[in-house]
Amino acid sequence: MKIEFVAKDAAASADTAIAVLAFESGGLSAGAEALDARLSGAAKKAIGAGRFKGKSGDVIELVAPAGVEAGRVLVVGAGEKDKLDASAVETFGATAFKTVKTSGAETLHIAAEGLEPALAAAAAFGARLASYRFDKYRTTEPVEKKPSVTALRVLCDDPKAAEAAYAPLSAIADGVFFTRDLVAEPANILYPVEFATRVKTLEKLGCTVEILGEKEMEALGMGSLLGVGQGSIRESQLAVIQWRGAEDKDAQPIAFVGKGVCFDTGGISIKPADGMEDMKWDMGGAGAVSGLMCALAGRKAKVNVVGILGLVENMPDGNAQRPGDVVKSMSGQTIEVINTDAEGRLVLADALWYCQDRFKPKFMVDLATLTGAIIVSLGHDYAGLFSNDDDLAEKLATAGKATGEQLWRMPLPASYEKQLDSHIADLKNIGGRPGGSITAALFLQKFVNGLPWAHLDIAAVAWRTPGVKATAPDGPTGFGVRLLDRLVRDYYEG
Ligand code: BES
Ligand code: ZN
Ligand code: ZN
Repeated sequence: MKIEFVAKDAAASADTAIAVLAFESGGLSAGAEALDARLSGAAKKAIGAGRFKGKSGDVIELVAPAGVEAGRVLVVGAGEKDKLDASAVETFGATAFKTVKTSGAETLHIAAEGLEPALAAAAAFGARLASYRFDKYRTTEPVEKKPSVTALRVLCDDPKAAEAAYAPLSAIADGVFFTRDLVAEPANILYPVEFATRVKTLEKLGCTVEILGEKEMEALGMGSLLGVGQGSIRESQLAVIQWRGAEDKDAQPIAFVGKGVCFDTGGISIKPADGMEDMKWDMGGAGAVSGLMCALAGRKAKVNVVGILGLVENMPDGNAQRPGDVVKSMSGQTIEVINTDAEGRLVLADALWYCQDRFKPKFMVDLATLTGAIIVSLGHDYAGLFSNDDDLAEKLATAGKATGEQLWRMPLPASYEKQLDSHIADLKNIGGRPGGSITAALFLQKFVNGLPWAHLDIAAVAWRTPGVKATAPDGPTGFGVRLLDRLVRDYYEG
């Protein structure tokens, strides 16, 4: 979608829809008042005639009368006027886009007059996030089902300033789309080597990307990660992405680690058929880390960041690992694999250890679609946050609130660690049903070597089934990119 910021008198025509803001208190934004005057009060009349309350997400659509150039007018609720912040304006932009997406309108004008440049930019950001679509495999879709809107014009008082405010948001949206594209891909297309190839493209943004294959990982002693991939004909990979944007390129980095199980059949502990197709997005953690690196490099963030992806496919073939097998991790700890479907933690065990061993980062945050139990605990509006560091946990939760990618902190009680005791090895890979997400996190903690660390269990939030959030259409959400970009921006840049 083409996005421009222009002064208010931009040309409109019959294929233009114009969106204006209305508040819960009943007032209209400056742009809305001006337009209503030209509509001879039609917008206000429509508001008065219906149940429209100006709540975020409320919309009235009017066919514009003769005398107004635009074909249609959208009055979009933005909530209370004194609470109009970036996230309310994002939702406004997203709602406007969704309403006219397939209406036949080709250009969407967003009336952002009277709003600060940062808010005008936020409207464009919201619309852009809502415009995501993964349609590369649709070959027979009738044209009337395809989006008609191809251009967005934000009408504002200071287009130059709004455009400057939008530049970093555009990079973040690119990152979110990078993640969504990876998560949406089916597993016959996106297997570890292909994932690594796509991540290599981040080099054109200035990242360095190294790919380790099975030989290199064997030499490093990554028996835990390799055991998961050994039942697949697809070669396992470890991707190491670096963005060195700080003034001192050698300054201690921060690090993000992603679970990249390109498909999780469960292995020999095979999953039931119903819903197994969802396990193509079991690489959502690695997808989020990739999109984050894309966003940070795209907006030239002044920070040194390492992104590590453990990329495997969990399949049940003649060479697959068996329940009861014992593997040796890079850390030296041995693991009894009781259930081959608890594979994400086995992948992360070696990825986390490698990360802290090689980079000695300030902290590590891992993202993983790790447990079904976190869906039971928190539902679909929160990711689980586990951390050994109160300060890091607090910063993450704050960034979550600011971006709407919300986190809820869960405990890491040492008293549950005995659930991971094995009869023959240092650890076993499952802790039973009680506190399933917690024992998974406690398992990971054994591989962080005392560093400040947080684990985000994103199993409930990486994919949205018929959803409600305007900025994230159904399908891959890109959860984590905005959250972690915000964490970096607010606390670690400069
Ligand atoms: N990838 C799954 C977790 C998952 C479930 C993600 C549903 C998204 C939606 C993970 O590898 C898994 O299978 N976990 C098991 C762990 C169990 C065997 C201890 C689970 O949650 O059932
Ligand atoms: Zn699994
Ligand atoms: Zn999994």
